[in-house]
Amino acid sequence: MKSVLNQALKNITSHEICTDPDQGLVVKLGELRKFVTSEFVFGDGARFLAGRYALNLGADRVLLVTDRGLMKTGFVDDVSSSLEEEGLDYVIFDDMTPNPRDHEVMEGAEVFDAEECNMIVALGGGSPIDCAKAMGAVVSNRMHVLDFEGVDMIPTPSVPIICIPTTAGTGADVSQFAIILDTRRMVKIAIISKAMVPDASLIDPETTVTMDRELTAATGMDALAHSIEAYVSNASFHLTDLNALDAIRIISRCLPSAVDEPGNMEYREGMMLASLEAGLAFSNASLGLVHAMAHSLGGKLDMAHGEANALLLEHVIEFNYPGATERYHEIARAMGLRGSGPAELIDYIREFRSGIGIDMTLEDLGVGEDDIPELAEASMKDPCIVTNPVRPSIEDVEAIFRRAL
Ligand SMILES: [Fe+2]
Repeated sequence: MKSVLNQALKNITSHEICTDPDQGLVVKLGELRKFVTSEFVFGDGARFLAGRYALNLGADRVLLVTDRGLMKTGFVDDVSSSLEEEGLDYVIFDDMTPNPRDHEVMEGAEVFDAEECNMIVALGGGSPIDCAKAMGAVVSNRMHVLDFEGVDMIPTPSVPIICIPTTAGTGADVSQFAIILDTRRMVKIAIISKAMVPDASLIDPETTVTMDRELTAATGMDALAHSIEAYVSNASFHLTDLNALDAIRIISRCLPSAVDEPGNMEYREGMMLASLEAGLAFSNASLGLVHAMAHSLGGKLDMAHGEANALLLEHVIEFNYPGATERYHEIARAMGLRGSGPAELIDYIREFRSGIGIDMTLEDLGVGEDDIPELAEASMKDPCIVTNPVRPSIEDVEAIFRRAL
C-alpha cells in the first residue's frame, strides 16, 4: 500500500497531488485539516429511528422542536410515536417563524428548562433546526444566544441534539453553522462552532414530498449556492471538493425535475443527497460572498434565504470569476457545460433559476437603492466573506447589490 502511494507521489513536488490529470487541478497534502459532521442515517424511513437514537444518546425527556406548518403533516406524529415506542416522554415546541429570531431561541431554551428536558429532537427545515441548535448551546452554557456570534464562541458543548431535516437544501442537520436573527439590530448573525454540529441526523427523503414548488426551488438553490461557494472557498480541500462537485452534478440534473414532478421520489432522493453533500462541503470549507450578502438581505427584509442566494449567485460568480477561474471551469463541467468562459456559466445559472420559478429581481422583493449602503455594510461584517476567493471592497459589494436590483 505504501509503495503504491509512493509511486503516485513520485513526480509531485510541494506535497501536491493531481486529482484530475487532464485538468491539472491540484490539492495540497500534508496541511492540517479537520472534517466534522454529525453521525447520519440516510434513506427512506430514517425518521422512524428517532426514538432509538434518542434512547441511545441518553434521553429521559425530549424537547421536540418543529414549526407550525409541520404540525399539519403526519411527520410530527411519526417522530413522537417513535419516541413513545421507546418509552420516552416529550414536549413539543413549535413557536417559531421562518428566519428564527433570538427571542424564539431564548423562549425555547426556557421551555427546555421548565419541562426538565435533557435532549432536543429537531424536525423541519433550516429554521427549526438552526433554532434548536442555538437552544442547545443556550441551555448548556446559560448564556444569551447573541453572545455566540462568530467563530468558536460556544464554551461548553450543546445538550444532545438529533435532527430530522424536511427540506432538501439547508444542510443545517450536519453543519457547524446556525443563523439567527438579531431582532435589535435586524441583522442575521452566524454562529459557527463544532458545538453546533448535531449528534445525529436522520435524513429521510420521504419528508420532502410535502414541499411545494416554491420551497423546493428555493431550498434547492440554497444547496447549489452552498456547493459552489464551498468549492471556490479559500478553505476548500479534497474532501469538501468531492462533496461539492457531486452536489453540483446532482442538483443540475435533479432540481428542475423535482420542482416539476414533486411526487417523484427519485428526484427527491437526489436532492436530499445533494443537500447532504453540499452541507458536508460548506460546513468544512465555509461559504462566501453570496451567503454574506444573503444573510444581510435576510436580516433586513426577512426574505426566503434560498431566493436571496439564487438572485445573487450569478452576480457574485461574475465578480469572483477572475480570482477562481479554474474552479469555475470545474463547476461548469460538473453542470454539463462545454465552454470555458464566464458568460456561459452565468447565463446557465440565470436560466436555471428562472426555469424553476425564481425569476424576480431584488427590487421586486422590496429592496431599493437606498437600502444598499446598509446592506453592503452588514455583508462586510459577515464571517462568510472571509473565505470568498476574492476579497471585495464595500464599493464592490454595493455594485453587486445594484446589479441584482
Ligand atoms: Fe444557505
